[in-house]
Amino acid sequence: MLDIAFAKPAVPKAGALVLLVGEDEAPSGLWQQADLATGGAVARAIAAAAFKGGKGKSVSIPGPGAGLSRIVICGIGKRGDVTERGLEEAGGGIAAQLATETIVAIDAGGMSPAQAASLAMGATLRAYRFDRYRTKEKAEDKPKLAKLTVLADDAAKAKAAYSPLRAVAEGVFLSRDLVSEPPNVLNPAEMADRCKKLTSLGLKVEVLGPKEMAKLGFGALLGVAQGSVNEPRMVVMHWNGAGARKGKQKKLAFVGKGVTFDTGGISIKPAGGMEDMKWDMAGAGTVIGLMAALAGRKAKVDAVGLVGLVENMPSGNAQRPGDVVTSYSGQTIEVINTDAEGRLVLADVLWYCQQKFDPEFMIDLATLTGAIIIGLGDEYAGLFSNNDMLSERLTAAGKETGELLWRMPLSDAYDKQIKSDIADMKNVGGRPGGSITAAQFIQRFVNSKPWAHLDIAGTAWSSKDHPTTPKGATAFGVRLLDRLVAEHYEG
Ligand code: BES
Ligand code: MN
Ligand code: ZN
Repeated sequence: MLDIAFAKPAVPKAGALVLLVGEDEAPSGLWQQADLATGGAVARAIAAAAFKGGKGKSVSIPGPGAGLSRIVICGIGKRGDVTERGLEEAGGGIAAQLATETIVAIDAGGMSPAQAASLAMGATLRAYRFDRYRTKEKAEDKPKLAKLTVLADDAAKAKAAYSPLRAVAEGVFLSRDLVSEPPNVLNPAEMADRCKKLTSLGLKVEVLGPKEMAKLGFGALLGVAQGSVNEPRMVVMHWNGAGARKGKQKKLAFVGKGVTFDTGGISIKPAGGMEDMKWDMAGAGTVIGLMAALAGRKAKVDAVGLVGLVENMPSGNAQRPGDVVTSYSGQTIEVINTDAEGRLVLADVLWYCQQKFDPEFMIDLATLTGAIIIGLGDEYAGLFSNNDMLSERLTAAGKETGELLWRMPLSDAYDKQIKSDIADMKNVGGRPGGSITAAQFIQRFVNSKPWAHLDIAGTAWSSKDHPTTPKGATAFGVRLLDRLVAEHYEG
């Protein structure tokens, strides 16, 4: 992780210096000092580039003198319009632009401690890289940025404000690591082992294997798992930071789809792009990262995270189209398409969660349908919920963190599409409204309890860089749900 430090504003002796400039602002303290130290290089560059501080605009001065490798002047737009997310994006942009520098200092003079911390958070999130399996990369090709100092008026307060954010970033990185891992390495057992490591953060972690799940009657989850030689697992992670309020508030519950590889099973997927299905465990990856974040920042809540971990493979022992399975809830399911496996996994884990914990709410995350990508692309995740208040809170937390949600409908009319002729329901409802019928299916395993389902198939992985997310695994949902908890359930 990027080494972040906070210090009083001063022109550094070496490395790169980033000056943040608001639109149409007069030169501030550090800007003038840097200009003086470099014999007017800053003023000259600003004039030559007709730079006015517009958001996203920047001017770079390589070798400006005074021992500095570079000065970058970044516009942040009108001061009054600057949001927390805008500062994160600015920080992320700086980390990307200056990836070849070793040490960077950002001038956050005139900003609040929280704003300085947001800049640091953005830079931290963008500087992530998964390079475990690169053995031959030359040193000069690797990003060099190792240390970033945020120059803040009250450095101690800014550092304190960054501390919980850093814990959240750790959770984001854990999630990104899990999602990035290749599927031969990260099978269900390995994923459960990585969950167990979270006990070091103070989480209680319980792992159930196929025997325990068979005893409970997890027919839906086990039907998916039966085609693979890699055994399934269910992991229950418990963070209890509620302290004195313990027992006064019900547990918050988060449930994730963890299909470590989805071939489609007997209803096998086409070869092109199938490698993407290594990230079909991203819902579980988010839940695990979230639990690490809550524990890491010692959130004052009682929360459980449950993940259903399976591999969906075709084999002589695999589930067939036409099979009927009995879920843990007792409801029977006709499996028309073995590629609609995520909902089968979630059915048993959600029912278990509800029976065992009677939580305040349940929020599940899943890379559930290709149809949500057709509907919303990769900008918004689909939100399905039986509860308006929970939906509003989630949507607001999404706007604040840049992890956007769009609410989709649920209704009995769609539910009819999953009627079966021989069982209580079938696992697919045809192409029309494919993401909605998937959500209707899941809803059958939720009693009237407040529940939200996030279909993250479009947002869990990115083919291009974003301001605070390099391309690849995004950890979508970790920051959003951490924010939801912080804003509404820790009071
Ligand atoms: N894991 C897939 C959904 C998916 C597709 C995630 C693309 C990420 C990118 C899911 O298990 C699946 O295969 N869904 C099917 C459902 C269909 C058979 C009703 C789909 O969307 O095609
Ligand atoms: Mn599938
Ligand atoms: Zn899947």
